[in-house]
Amino acid sequence: MSDPFQQGLAEALPALRALKGDRGKAGASRTCLEALQLAKPRKPIRAIASAVSPASFKTLTPLREAALVCTKCPHLVASRKGVVFGAGNPSADLMFVGEAPGADEDEQGEPFVGPAGQLLTKIILAMGFTRDDIYISNVLKCRPDMTVGMTGNRKPTADEVEACLPWLERQIDLIRPKAIVALGATAVEGLMGLTEPMGNLRGRWLDFHEIPVMVTYHPSYLLHNQSISEKRKVWEDMLLVLERLGRPISAKQKSFFTVASK
Ligand code: URA
Repeated sequence: MSDPFQQGLAEALPALRALKGDRGKAGASRTCLEALQLAKPRKPIRAIASAVSPASFKTLTPLREAALVCTKCPHLVASRKGVVFGAGNPSADLMFVGEAPGADEDEQGEPFVGPAGQLLTKIILAMGFTRDDIYISNVLKCRPDMTVGMTGNRKPTADEVEACLPWLERQIDLIRPKAIVALGATAVEGLMGLTEPMGNLRGRWLDFHEIPVMVTYHPSYLLHNQSISEKRKVWEDMLLVLERLGRPISAKQKSFFTVASK
């Protein structure tokens, strides 16, 4: 099937049907779906781009547009409010990669805006950046769905990560940051395929397609473990990142935790 519209449609139809079956409220009747299948747009539309390989996109904007209508995981299509593609400077020197959007991110369409995100923002500011200077993304671009009645978040499954990873890989390829910070075990596993305990991995430089990757704890870990020693470890990792980027490190930054912890 070479027509991208037909390809996209073929991919979208199972999701639309599932949506109709699961929720019983989608306005996609059989007649309507069949009419859609027969319809030919005057020119290929962006929404259909999700059928095209992420690797084929040459810039971030069309990649984002295609990711926003991705239907690779029908169960996530049915549960998400939106796709959280990523945010920040498309030419950033530094990129943070987390796990997956939570409820706040799903609602607002932006990564790391909930409690863990607020802590990440503080770390970014303490490094001397703003959120507009750097780029923030996740291994999974949709919020992992939750069983009805359950609160909180769940870890993405291996299948979800595998389906979503091409978006992140292309995102990284187009941004070409000078360094990446992998936040937590899911980010390291998604990017590097490593499943060693975080205690062994954090503070180490790894390599992703020749881009140095610093592994550190996820900010939500710090929210649950308020000990100064764990916060200091993350800060030490961030100092290594600043050093790697050739950024000046002030005396205040060097002694941040010695002073802040008093
Ligand atoms: N946790 C993540 O890993 N990513 C987000 O975007 C928010 C919370």
